[in-house]
Amino acid sequence: MSQRFHNKVAIVTGASSGIGKATAISLAREGARLMICADRNVDGLEETRQAVADLGAECLAMRVDVRSQEAVEGCVDAARERFGAVDILVNNAGTGQYMPFAKMSNDEYDRVMDINLRGTFFFCRAVLPAMMERNYGKIVNVTSVMGEIAAQGQSIYNASKGAAKLLTQGIAVDVTGYNINVNAVAPGMVVTNLTQRMFSNEAAEKFFTDRIPKRRIGQPEDISPAILFLCSDEASYIHGTTLVVDGGMICTR
Ligand SMILES: NC(=O)c1ccc[n+]([C@@H]2O[C@H](COP(=O)([O-])OP(=O)(O)OC[C@H]3O[C@@H](n4cnc5c(N)ncnc54)[C@H](O)[C@@H]3O)[C@@H](O)[C@H]2O)c1
Repeated sequence: MSQRFHNKVAIVTGASSGIGKATAISLAREGARLMICADRNVDGLEETRQAVADLGAECLAMRVDVRSQEAVEGCVDAARERFGAVDILVNNAGTGQYMPFAKMSNDEYDRVMDINLRGTFFFCRAVLPAMMERNYGKIVNVTSVMGEIAAQGQSIYNASKGAAKLLTQGIAVDVTGYNINVNAVAPGMVVTNLTQRMFSNEAAEKFFTDRIPKRRIGQPEDISPAILFLCSDEASYIHGTTLVVDGGMICTR
């Protein structure tokens, strides 16, 4: 196993399950020290922490609601206090929307936008000044194919992920001249807590697999290698881009 992240310090948000958990474990396997966080699934977060610790990697776990500026900045400060600096940020925490546009309430709009976009804004802003000072940093924002194309009942989710994609580009331009890379990974359909109800029966699962050239729903471990690649120095000339990892689904639209 290569050690691309030997001694690097990585923050992974939304690491209590799914893509965030797979990413944290993979980073640890390749030598990173970790700050992992999530808002509520404390048991899941502890499971990830234990899995990372079992790999011999240092790991701090914190309960953080990405909608709270104070909590986000507290998390970044705690990572710096423990590890000295933050090299890598993976903004993975996210939520879904399963509501037709005409029925969307203000509260539901705020919930989706605040978790998927404001949280990414808070975390990027909290880590960037020190990354600029050290002239080193990797940021990967987890967006979605649904930030590239629309889907029924997901209008505000589409908007939040499309905005996160453009936020990624905007930050990339604003760190011109620095040895900092800012990119996004846009997963397609992946089996996680977020989506399990979409694959609740065979017919629903078939609906999706019929639209995926790879003829299967993705697993978190299909997405984490793309995130790790963009966090690595091998990808140092990739900047401001969104890497779609969807088994080809977007090609069928
Ligand atoms: N599963 C998919 O098909 C899919 C597809 C495209 C994009 N994504 C994106 O991947 C990312 C990870 O999702 P997942 O599929 O692994 O789902 P998941 O439900 O397993 O993980 C989501 C994580 O985000 C955390 N989270 C949610 N709200 C939060 C908040 N307010 N503050 C802090 N943490 C919060 C959860 O605790 C959890 O750890 C999300 O950004 C999601 O939009 C998922």
